[in-house]
Amino acid sequence: MIQEIRVSELDATRFIADQVAAIQSAVGQGAAINALSGGVDSAVVTMLGHRALGKCLRTVMVDNGLMREGELERTIAIFAELGVPVELIDAREAFFAALAGLTDPERKREAITQTFYRDVFGSLVRSSGARVLLQGTILTDVDETVAGIKRQHNVFAQLGIDPEATFGYAIVEPLLQLRKDGVRKVGAALGLPTEVFARMPFPGPALAARVIGEATPERIETVRLATAVVERALAGCGAFQYLAILHEDRVTGMRSGRRSFGQQIEVRCWDSADARTASPTALPWDTLRRLADTILEEVPGVVSVTYNLATKPPSTIEAI
Ligand code: XMP
Repeated sequence: MIQEIRVSELDATRFIADQVAAIQSAVGQGAAINALSGGVDSAVVTMLGHRALGKCLRTVMVDNGLMREGELERTIAIFAELGVPVELIDAREAFFAALAGLTDPERKREAITQTFYRDVFGSLVRSSGARVLLQGTILTDVDETVAGIKRQHNVFAQLGIDPEATFGYAIVEPLLQLRKDGVRKVGAALGLPTEVFARMPFPGPALAARVIGEATPERIETVRLATAVVERALAGCGAFQYLAILHEDRVTGMRSGRRSFGQQIEVRCWDSADARTASPTALPWDTLRRLADTILEEVPGVVSVTYNLATKPPSTIEAI
């Protein structure tokens, strides 16, 4: 049973000191490795790890082909400013090969988990000699996985999986007792720029979680373009999270007076405190209309744009 630390009772300075000590004792004289995705959780773990281990922590950013527009470059530049070198690993082929032909959400998640932990990290850890992977799992990830709602890509011990036996390295998870609001508080106390710690959540399986059906490079590109439009249009709207989803079904539309059997984008925008429950944001009609027009204009092949009105539960924030 993990002991939750609520944001109201979280002393960020003490939490940081405790976790730095815990990381140092788990890693000992050896080396550790961690993956930065650009999201809040992995950014906070990267800073904690560098405080604890300095040069003995190797931070990598895995290009899985599923990232948002400009995300790799922006994240690497931000961390360079903070004095944290980040190594870029190109694993696009491995991820798309693993996702080929898969349409079931849980099988897609499993393919991403295996490619990341077994293939990409397995060989990285073997070649680097690191024995420990630092990872930003938070309590919400564990809750949903254990409840069987969604297999989060980064949960093992709570499912009875021993990473050391399965993948050949130990996993240390300094944020396990926190939820998103607590992680943000720790991020601020670590001196991360607001742009990083206040960032909206983004799932580990990245844009593959936003494509219903097969996540091919072409379909990922479509949702990447739509995501960029949604993030631009809704920036500063104050919502917890907003996203674009590419549907599997096509619908009949028309372009230049001709039939176009086109694709559908669903927009979701959520009000929430901690992602456990959420409701759709009451966006102004003008904002929604402009957003739809821009998607139709800028994302090739799309002829339908919808806005989600369901709450979580029974919906979930992501689509897969
Ligand atoms: P759902 O879709 O389950 O999402 O309502 C709850 C929150 O978690 C994020 N999310 C994930 N984060 N790995 C993660 O690290 C995952 O596999 C994953 N799936 C969803 C989601 O963006 C939302 O903020």
